[in-house]
Amino acid sequence: MRRLFILVALSTACREPQQFKEPVKLAGRVVDAETLNRGRHEYMQYCRACHGDHGDGKGPAAPGLRPPPRDFTQGSYKFAWVLDQKLPRDEDLVRIVRNGLHGTAMLGWDVPDSTLADIIQYLKTLSPKWKEDDAVGDPVVPPPDPWGDVRQSEAVARGRLLYHGFAQCLGCHAAYASKQEIYDAGKATLGTGTTDFRDAMYLPEIKDSEYGVKILPPDFLFNELRSVRSGTELEDLYRLLVAGVTGAAMPAWNPVTLPNKEADIYALAYYVRALVRMKGTPAAEELHRALAAQAGFTPPPEPPAADAKP
Ligand code: HEC
Ligand code: HEC
Repeated sequence: MRRLFILVALSTACREPQQFKEPVKLAGRVVDAETLNRGRHEYMQYCRACHGDHGDGKGPAAPGLRPPPRDFTQGSYKFAWVLDQKLPRDEDLVRIVRNGLHGTAMLGWDVPDSTLADIIQYLKTLSPKWKEDDAVGDPVVPPPDPWGDVRQSEAVARGRLLYHGFAQCLGCHAAYASKQEIYDAGKATLGTGTTDFRDAMYLPEIKDSEYGVKILPPDFLFNELRSVRSGTELEDLYRLLVAGVTGAAMPAWNPVTLPNKEADIYALAYYVRALVRMKGTPAAEELHRALAAQAGFTPPPEPPAADAKP
């Protein structure tokens, strides 16, 4: 891993800050000083170039990076896949460091397991949020997939309906259906069809975040450069949807708020996965053309409400 080597070289110039002398209680677990000192040393080797000497995201390689490296002093993580937008579990941090975050400077780093385990404990000393015993969230555990391979296309269709109707994903993400279809999706899942469309409804809408930058949501189908950062397998998407993206406008979807509960979360996951798989194919281009060329939309006249006064 050439890139990592360069970063390690960059890191050696820094001076070691003060050592830990006592064990520290982090998220309810006592971590010995030796582990933390090792963790800090290794962090300085592998992570400091971007995340900075003090973990504040201001390392020498950070200027100009978009999204910027995480500021660990904030104690806020986007891709934790835990309930209640709490702090990530160790296994989440391992996953993030091993897999990387697609389309960002956070690559999948090839650090030895024991080194990574030490670094992870050290990261927790950087924000006071880790001092609380119950700071870490319970994992999102996807139930067995109720659709299965045989009902895959049914699941995708249901997800498409929810995306453009009940769940209103298109408020932030791009729409991938015609105005008529979006109107119909609203009618079918909410009882009323939208007639009020965003101006740039076929593009994602840039959103404020708590990370000091505005964030463009991924485009699942049309934009090659802005894709999903974490996982695109069904269960990954399930966990992401239920967890949300903390601090970044992407809500956490509690299954009980959807008409068919967990099955609907899965349906949304199936739909997103289908879009991601379709990206870059002729079918995606064809849909793009068809949406651009769609006829003007006139909403059907609403029947007068039963109790309407003349
Ligand atoms: C080349 C720059 C770079 C290096 C080196 C780097 N990171 Fe990152 N890291 C990033 C960027 C950029 C992000 C923000 C991605 C985003 O916001 O989507 C990030 C985000 C993270 C996150 C937050 C994920 C979340 O869910 O919010 C963690 C944890 C993390 N890095 C750990 C590490 C560790 C541990 C190391 C060292 C082994 C490391 N990084 C090395 C650039 C880097
Ligand atoms: C209020 C705005 C908003 C709504 C509504 C919304 N999202 Fe998001 N979504 C975002 C933003 C912003 C991001 C980018 C987060 C980041 O990369 O920091 C995102 C990211 C995602 C991601 C990618 C996560 C990753 O790993 O990179 C998926 C998948 C996703 N959203 C699916 C959905 C689905 C499905 C719905 C509807 C059920 C939905 N979103 C509704 C704002 C929203």
